[in-house]
Amino acid sequence: MMRGEIAIVDGFADPRHAQTLKRDYADRPLAHLPGFVVKRLFRRWRDRPDVFFLIAQMDDDTCGFVFGQSVGAKPWRQLLIDPVALPFAVAALVFERTRSRIGQGVRPETGSAFPPYDKAECQVRREWGPREAANVEFIFVDPAFRGRNVAGVLLAAFGDRLRAAGIGTGLAYIAHSNQASIRAFSKAGWSIYADGGTLRACHRIDTGTNLWN
Ligand SMILES: CC(C)(COP(=O)(O)OP(=O)(O)OC[C@H]1O[C@@H](n2cnc3c(N)ncnc32)[C@H](O)[C@@H]1OP(=O)(O)O)[C@@H](O)C(=O)NCCC(=O)NCCS
Repeated sequence: MMRGEIAIVDGFADPRHAQTLKRDYADRPLAHLPGFVVKRLFRRWRDRPDVFFLIAQMDDDTCGFVFGQSVGAKPWRQLLIDPVALPFAVAALVFERTRSRIGQGVRPETGSAFPPYDKAECQVRREWGPREAANVEFIFVDPAFRGRNVAGVLLAAFGDRLRAAGIGTGLAYIAHSNQASIRAFSKAGWSIYADGGTLRACHRIDTGTNLWN
């Protein structure tokens, strides 16, 4: 491995990466969960074929990660069926919802630079079967490594994993204001649509099974 090269590793291979999920993504409910709850979830997700957690490393530093799940899998249910995690999860979700409602008003769809979200483009495929689409739940690049296309490498690897799992479509939500994310997804070939107060990124992952026709 050359110095400065990005390597992608499976985040579930090393239990220490449970804390990467918590530490590095500060504006999501996971960040508000105690470490031991995140560890419990990590163990539950680790063996599921429909949960994806990839880490980008450069010169032994963790520089970013992507975490996703197939749309039908609902790994968040793992929070609800875990009696220890449940109360923490509910508190974290309520806190996060309230904070984001206060923090950012919903922007109207009119005047968006992006075409309106088109169900015929994304949603229909999603309805074809639970294992045919997967959401990017989090993608994060350490501030020290931003602007070097780490996100592009992560999204390409994520696409490879989905393809290998027989999933045809990638989906993600992006805040209108998140210019860096809009750029990163666009450069990785994802299409961006305006979807009410948020943006929806969609990407066809070519499975060779002609899902889109
Ligand atoms: C969005 C994010 C994952 C992009 O990762 P990245 O590896 O830096 O992506 P790229 O290198 O492709 O850069 C994307 C854009 O970031 C911006 N950027 C470039 N250098 C930057 C820097 N040093 N610091 C911050 N943003 C920078 C530019 O707008 C760039 O677009 P450009 O290539 O057209 O100039 C990263 O900014 C991040 O982790 N943000 C916080 C978490 C987040 O918002 N996740 C997405 C939720 S949908």
